[in-house]
Amino acid sequence: MMKKIIYISIILPFVFSCNSNEKISKDIFEEVNKSMEVKKLSEVEILDEAMAWGEEISSEAQNQLISALQKAIEEKGISEAVEYCNIEAIPMVQELSTKHKVTIKRASFAYRNPTDKPSEDEAAILDAYAYNAENDIKNEPNIQKLENGEILLYTKAIQIPNSFCLNCHGKEGIDISEETLGKIDRLYPDDKAKGHKIGDLRGMWSIKIPKSEVIKRL
Ligand code: HEC
Repeated sequence: MMKKIIYISIILPFVFSCNSNEKISKDIFEEVNKSMEVKKLSEVEILDEAMAWGEEISSEAQNQLISALQKAIEEKGISEAVEYCNIEAIPMVQELSTKHKVTIKRASFAYRNPTDKPSEDEAAILDAYAYNAENDIKNEPNIQKLENGEILLYTKAIQIPNSFCLNCHGKEGIDISEETLGKIDRLYPDDKAKGHKIGDLRGMWSIKIPKSEVIKRL
């Protein structure tokens, strides 16, 4: 009888500990698995959210610029509106940057304002957009990770949608009046943004979104 009790008391802790070890390792395994799943999911979620937010911001900026431009043309005429753009376009975009805690700009190889000259990262994307435009491939918005993924760069191609833009970006003497040309040449002596036709790639929106700001929205 005594022997049996001893036998059991030696065996039991073993059985127990084995079982509980197994349980713990299973729990840990599940936990690790779960956290990996969460991480994987949120990476996709973060990129999706950055894409959606980039869309929103670029539309907001585009609408603001176009309505301000149209208002300026109605009130002052096209050549005066050039001056208005010269003074207002960049501050307007900067104000939106501050509001959203992102960095918004427009980038173009054929820039009018030298501030819009593309960075190295932007140039690579613009190259791809230009290739697509030349080969009739539709340009889609893009998200690229910069600085180890801490910054997400949203880009969206800007095309010349209609003849309205040609008043200031079209051909000299045909689309651009002499008066407007005079204003452009005076304000932008190194202007590269003339000679376009409808459908041309004009540049792109470039929005640097901190990953931390995207996470706040999720
Ligand atoms: C009244 C003249 C005028 C019209 C019309 C106009 N733009 Fe511009 N555009 C400008 C000026 C001036 C600048 C430079 C603004 C600055 O100094 O920041 C500019 C800059 C730009 C830029 C930034 C890149 C660069 O070249 O510096 C883009 C992109 C652009 N325009 C696209 C368009 C599109 C698309 C349209 C039509 C929807 C349009 N513009 C209509 C005058 C005009």
